[in-house]
Amino acid sequence: MLAVCLGNICRSPMAEGLLRHHIQQHGLRAKVDSAGTSNHHQGEPPDRRAQQEMKRHGIDISSQRSRPFVHADFETFDLILVMDQSNLRDVLAMAQGKDEWVDKVHLILDDEEIPDPYYGGASGFAEVFEMLDRASEDWVRSLKG
Ligand code: 4NP
Repeated sequence: MLAVCLGNICRSPMAEGLLRHHIQQHGLRAKVDSAGTSNHHQGEPPDRRAQQEMKRHGIDISSQRSRPFVHADFETFDLILVMDQSNLRDVLAMAQGKDEWVDKVHLILDDEEIPDPYYGGASGFAEVFEMLDRASEDWVRSLKG
């Protein structure tokens, strides 16, 4: 499972941490990573506010580092979970119309976008946590079939 957002320093690192957490809770094994559609923050750890919100819930994401989404991710991962419509457009544009790649890409919440918390305050990160917690548990349950 690959979580994707714009910068890979706020939403998708939180999603990666939560997916790992729920996979472990359910006694499952799956490859999990996250990436950004931009490379602006490549090599950076998650935003301090994202780290703090996750830590408040007992999940440590401090060792994650931002990296850009690459074509090879379409082969490496079975599920590519994006945060918003803009991420969806960017990732689908890279899929070059290949059905087997397009079919792997989904909004992490199918009826709502995960709002970008970067320019807001701590409450935005708390809201993002709640949304991603719900979404990631549902995706992990879906792995069980
Ligand atoms: P993310 O948030 O996509 O959730 O990691 C952002 C991080 C950085 C920027 C935008 C969104 N930025 O413009 O630098």
